[in-house]
Amino acid sequence: MPKIKFYNRPEVPMEMHKVKIVQKLTLLPAKERLSKMKEAGFNTFMLHNGDIFMDMLTDSGVNAMSDNMQSAMLRADDAYAGSETFYRMRDKLEEIFGIKYLLPTHQGRACEHIIAQHFVKPGNCIIMNYHFTTSKAHVTRLGAHVEELIRDEGLIAKSSLPFKGNIDIDKVKACIEKEGADNIAYIRIEAGTNLIGGQPISYENMKEATELAKANGILTILDASLLQDNLYFIKTREESMKDKSIAEITRMIADLFDIIYFSGRKFGFGRGGGILVRDENLFHEMEDYITMFEGFLTYGGMSVKEMEAMIVGFDETMDLDIISQGPQFIDHCVRELDACGVPMITPGGGLGAHMNAREIVSHIPSEQYPAGSLVAALYLCGGIRGMERGTLSEERNPDGTEHIASVEMVRLAFPRRVFTLSQTEYVIDRVKWLYDHRHLIGGLRFVREPKTLRFFTGMLEPVSDWPEKLVEAYIADFGEDQ
Ligand SMILES: Cc1ncc(COP(=O)(O)O)c(C=O)c1O
Repeated sequence: MPKIKFYNRPEVPMEMHKVKIVQKLTLLPAKERLSKMKEAGFNTFMLHNGDIFMDMLTDSGVNAMSDNMQSAMLRADDAYAGSETFYRMRDKLEEIFGIKYLLPTHQGRACEHIIAQHFVKPGNCIIMNYHFTTSKAHVTRLGAHVEELIRDEGLIAKSSLPFKGNIDIDKVKACIEKEGADNIAYIRIEAGTNLIGGQPISYENMKEATELAKANGILTILDASLLQDNLYFIKTREESMKDKSIAEITRMIADLFDIIYFSGRKFGFGRGGGILVRDENLFHEMEDYITMFEGFLTYGGMSVKEMEAMIVGFDETMDLDIISQGPQFIDHCVRELDACGVPMITPGGGLGAHMNAREIVSHIPSEQYPAGSLVAALYLCGGIRGMERGTLSEERNPDGTEHIASVEMVRLAFPRRVFTLSQTEYVIDRVKWLYDHRHLIGGLRFVREPKTLRFFTGMLEPVSDWPEKLVEAYIADFGEDQ
């Protein structure tokens, strides 16, 4: 990919596409945002999209499609059973990953549900480099536990390490020794790691971990939902891989695993999911779950139009120009904020720019959800919707006490091919303002707290009138209409 150079100015990330369809955005005035936030129980998941200026909640199902993806939708073959679209999707995935058997699902967590249902028994241990909310919830629901064996340095917020998602091989060895290989249902590698800032894992590390698992007869599973960013980082940061094409790197990774699953809401720029199973017998054993929970075996709960679009999206994922877009915008945002002293998770990873809430609002105790408070404040000060990724996203300990997250972050997701550079500059500007006024931000407490995955639908309230004071300060600087 030729990198676009600039004359006489620092380089900025460059969009390698042009806009064909747009959606109008509205910036509500700050006072209106305050009442919307109150209605939403200070939970950004509960906001209405029409009340948001920059929706940086997630990259899930909100990535922009290309013209080729849109036009492919027209040839979708509508059939309950035996849709030609399914066979095209299966063949494309086999071409990319070299795995023949595909179980279609409606999204990533459906894959996790089925995998857990099939492999996890009460008392089992599941090894992961790091957990993802739904991948852990499916395991614990069945009475098993997750061991997150990320290398210690992966949790250091400010760093220059290229692969902070790497699993600690010595910890894996010790875990196998302690638990016994028979009690380990599988090792799940997430590439890259959502909850620690989209940080990638190296090919070399995946190879070591899967070889160790195989030597001990442990099933190897890749969560490829965020693989596209990880592929970019392997290509650009792993010396031994720099001359390989994205397709070659993908195939080398795939060859390490028994099972690969993905959320098509991320991987493939569409909406859907799938589990690729290398072993034919295992594939047939797992088929029943699809017909029971998802849909018939040739659509698995997905719309065939989305499936056609994803088939094109998978090919686009093999294009370095396309997959470098997200990481480059994220890197720009992280660097700019870091240069102004805003504590960020560095280096920039995939998926989004991540603010280190534990440092930014260090005056808020973990039990009052620093990242939850910061993300609510960011909506008030700019109409930007991010996502809390910290203690609020954890489940409580069995004794009811808070499980304090090892990383307390606000994620500003960059849905792929969606935002322009000026929108990114706006976000940088508002985050800087908020950082300078961070002492005005206070904590939150639950008013209604669901037992499972509470961050999705829980309702909270501020512990004081800090939101009013923050909005007052914001209006003083930007005016009533901003
Ligand atoms: C790494 C990872 N795995 C699984 C999932 C779940 O996918 P879905 O949202 O499609 O259920 C996500 C979603 O964010 C993810 O980031």
